[in-house]
Amino acid sequence: MSRLLSSPVLTIVLAAVLGLTVSYFMRTKPAPTTLPNTITTTSAHAISTPPDAEPPPTPPQPSESTEFAKIEHPHLPNVRKVTDKILAGARPEEEETFKALSELGVKTIISLDGAKPNLEVAEKYGMRYVHLPITYAQVTEQQGKEIAKALMEMPGKIYAHCPQGINRSAAAVATACVVNRTFTLEQAQRLLKAFGTSKNYKGLVTSVEKAQAAKPGELESMKVEFVSSKKVPELADAMVGMDHNWENLVREQKAKWGAPPDHPSLDPAVDSRELYAHYFELKNLASIKNKPADFHTTLHTGTLATQALAEILRVKPVDTQLADAAHARVKQSCQECHKAHRD
Ligand code: HEC
Repeated sequence: MSRLLSSPVLTIVLAAVLGLTVSYFMRTKPAPTTLPNTITTTSAHAISTPPDAEPPPTPPQPSESTEFAKIEHPHLPNVRKVTDKILAGARPEEEETFKALSELGVKTIISLDGAKPNLEVAEKYGMRYVHLPITYAQVTEQQGKEIAKALMEMPGKIYAHCPQGINRSAAAVATACVVNRTFTLEQAQRLLKAFGTSKNYKGLVTSVEKAQAAKPGELESMKVEFVSSKKVPELADAMVGMDHNWENLVREQKAKWGAPPDHPSLDPAVDSRELYAHYFELKNLASIKNKPADFHTTLHTGTLATQALAEILRVKPVDTQLADAAHARVKQSCQECHKAHRD
């Protein structure tokens, strides 16, 4: 295996893959924000209007710094204010995050992803969970209404999250806030922009565009049994496990394939081995039996890539160049399959 991986041809192929992956990410970078309108209005006004004239009334402009402002706090991952009652961001992993949320007045956490909510720690800080998982494919009409109702009726401040706080939580909250008439479509779209939701998730973006305000009284009279933890389909569940190891590997790569300073107990050899085991087991899931051939091909190449990564990271000291290249190939398998079969 290592002889094969160090062959010059393979190195060139891996370098090409790395290049492609990087350029793919460059494309998805959010567009630079434009200067606030107010600057141009003020200077134009100063030139053309005599000093004693009444200034023309300007409609209140949402200031970029306050609308959907990020809450700067060492334990709040990517958390932004949506309204006075709603906050949204990444999944709380550490106890400090739950504590910080409770200190902000959060009483309800809405999880929009497939991971099992940490009910114990939430309860310890006086918060309840409502689990309303959505996929990357869309926010269905029913889900939009249920989330809209939860945002209206749950007590205290509400924290809505997905793993990163960028895509699913932003799209779900934006959709639901149109459904329950908190936002206009324009506000909902500004929310997506502020959170940095990628346009590559077409289903999510379209869900916001298509969102319709509910009929008066409809959400109030709708019967929904909110539960704190829902069972998600087996493939989504397997992905949550894979994602955990993958996120660790991303951190470990940044730490030159050692333990990241802020997570000293992590070990890249363990994460790569577990990720390989997850990939290996995916093919046994009943729910993928009927997937098309390219799904199985991507799964197979991904399994080989994770196996190679695990082999490379087992040897100490780590050959960081080889590890980086194998890591890029694994990433490519995640992206390829998601592009074709998830997003
Ligand atoms: C062969 C196909 C395939 C590969 C390879 C793959 N995924 Fe997935 N992934 C899917 C599909 C399909 C879904 C949607 C499942 C659903 O919602 O039912 C998904 C969903 C997910 C989710 C969302 C789970 C949730 O909360 O609902 C995450 C996170 C994820 N994948 C991470 C990864 C990572 C990280 C990798 C690579 C290390 C990866 N996936 C590789 C097919 C794949």
